[in-house]
Amino acid sequence: MGRFHEIYRRSLEDPEGFWAEAAEDVAWTKRWDRVLDDSRSPFTRWFVGGETNTCYNAIDRHVEAGRGGQTALIYDSPVTGTVTKFTYAELQDRVARFAGALRGLGVGYGDRVILYMPMIPEAVIAMLATVRIGAVHSVVFGGFAAKELATRIDDAKPKVIVSASCGIEGQRVLPYKPLLDRAIELSAHKPERCVIKQRPQAEAPLVDGRDLTWEDAEAGAPAAECVPVKATDPAYVLYTSGTTGQPKGVVRPTGGHLVALKWSMKNIYDVEPGDVYWAASDVGWVVGHSYIVYAPLFHGCTTVLFEGKPVGTPDAGVFWRVIADHKVKVMFTAPTAIRAIKKEDPDGKLLANYDMSHFRAQFLAGERCDPDTLKWCQDKLKVPAVDHWWQTETGWPIASNCLGIEELPYKPGSPTHPVPGWDVQVLAPEGTPVKPNEIGAISIKLPLPPGALSTLWNNDERFVQSYMTEYPGFYQTGDAGLIDDDGYIHVMTRTDDIINVAGHRLSTGGMEEVLASHPDVAECAVIGVADDLKGQVPLGFLVLKDGVNKPHDQVVKEVVAMVRERIGPVAAFKVATVVHRLPKTRSGKILRGTMQKIADGQDPGVPATIDDPAILGEITESLQGVGYAKKG
Ligand code: COA
Ligand code: AMP
Repeated sequence: MGRFHEIYRRSLEDPEGFWAEAAEDVAWTKRWDRVLDDSRSPFTRWFVGGETNTCYNAIDRHVEAGRGGQTALIYDSPVTGTVTKFTYAELQDRVARFAGALRGLGVGYGDRVILYMPMIPEAVIAMLATVRIGAVHSVVFGGFAAKELATRIDDAKPKVIVSASCGIEGQRVLPYKPLLDRAIELSAHKPERCVIKQRPQAEAPLVDGRDLTWEDAEAGAPAAECVPVKATDPAYVLYTSGTTGQPKGVVRPTGGHLVALKWSMKNIYDVEPGDVYWAASDVGWVVGHSYIVYAPLFHGCTTVLFEGKPVGTPDAGVFWRVIADHKVKVMFTAPTAIRAIKKEDPDGKLLANYDMSHFRAQFLAGERCDPDTLKWCQDKLKVPAVDHWWQTETGWPIASNCLGIEELPYKPGSPTHPVPGWDVQVLAPEGTPVKPNEIGAISIKLPLPPGALSTLWNNDERFVQSYMTEYPGFYQTGDAGLIDDDGYIHVMTRTDDIINVAGHRLSTGGMEEVLASHPDVAECAVIGVADDLKGQVPLGFLVLKDGVNKPHDQVVKEVVAMVRERIGPVAAFKVATVVHRLPKTRSGKILRGTMQKIADGQDPGVPATIDDPAILGEITESLQGVGYAKKG
């Protein structure tokens, strides 16, 4: 048995011993009494009785250990023409002062702070400042609309919201403050104060008595010390798409988060303290939380905060420019970003302009990585291209080639093997494991390892119902796929209505709720269809109420605008088509899978349970009318 398999086996046979050892790498103010408390399964608690502070582990411990002069954070923003570097000591100073400012605004242990921020250093500072004083942050991605933000405000009930006057998307300046103001109007819960970072590209008017500028909040604020919290206390809540318009507030427990993320840096990514690590994502997503902010800092690395796009800021060489300028050793992005680069620079000619000699590995995740994209990375970058699989809920990779343990052979289309700690099994509908190579529900045997979600915010019941009920004793990933003869995982598709658009996770159910609220719409369905750039994009079907005689394209225009207004531009909902009826089973279930196959040009067959097969012809024609359902 090779080294990897040996370590993997040990992690499952002796999880307590395995993770207790990993926990030695974390600074605790009080050691745990029990490594693992599984007495209330499916609620798993790690490092019970232990106390620590996330920010101390990210910053202060490195300053105390003599890393104060090392660069902790590089803000590289081609959209504003700025590169700013912060040493660990500088970051400590800024974070401690902003933590003092938050405390001055009444934020204390366990209080929530919502951050609605673009990719600027203040986003990272605010995250770290929040956990420094034992409070809980919830970052909301800037591409979400006011209504989505309002839903999160009502669920998290923040005392304070931290935001900025605007974001910059490519060449466009997008005001954030009007969205924030609108969200607070829509929400039942009102934050006491809002701290606004004014950016010169679009300054925002402030609301008297409620809003203050970042600078005013920070000015004269005393530096706040790190407040120890329980290992089982939440470090943050991050909302992610569920099967309805109501997002799920994934709760990340402090102790497990620290231990798992610290462990992952060496063992999965093979980076050492002092190395430069770059995740080109957004702090609004889990990848941004785990691998822009927390893991690289826990490990004493230099992390890069990139405010730009893979193309157009200014060109498809910008990723390679950042890697060369900052001597990035390991990079992490979504396959869609590589597809965008590949489209503009298919031969990777721009690579020749940059010194990539420090670059060691390219990690990819967020959506299925198509073999062409993986191969392009391997051929052009000439370093390992590692597809790895994980979710907001898990917080760190479930399956990956663990470069720091032993590099296993690659199989394009597979994120390799489960990572130590994750007992992945593929289950048949009856709940028994399938044979190798057979498709089923990809499930994880409990207990989940440290770092995985501990529950959903204020909603233990939904946690149990969403993830733990279908196959008792297992966590349901919501992904379907197989494990092959060599133990490699192949993640094929979601089993629910979640789609992945440009690496962004979205709920078609949430979009259907918006469409259904249009006064002319009697019935609707949204499916994810294949897209060369974004992997998937949503497409809507509308059945109009009897007697509606508005032109169809008018209704389509209106629903497209509604999704943008209520969910946000990130949904990329641009195409819908009007049909007379939707294909359904005899029991009335909409055959979304069949419509998706037709849209993607595959033969859907005729489902045995279909109520009226004749309807498939109309669906095909409608889809052809909007550029889909092409054969071959
Ligand atoms: N704030 C405000 N609006 C945002 C936003 C943000 N932070 N992020 C995206 N948007 C908007 C975009 O401006 C765009 O709006 P538009 O419809 O007016 O053009 C819309 O949301 C869709 O954005 P995006 O999905 O980024 O598409 P794009 O066409 O602008 O860019 C890619 C395509 C492939 C370049 C881009 O999706 C990308 O870089 N993807 C990488 C994804 C990633 O990092 N995922 C994280 C998981 S690892
Ligand atoms: P998110 O919670 O946004 O990280 O999205 C998680 C979902 O994205 C997973 O459940 C998968 O459906 C998909 N996903 C993420 N990474 C991969 C991957 N490497 N291969 C296949 N699907 C992936």
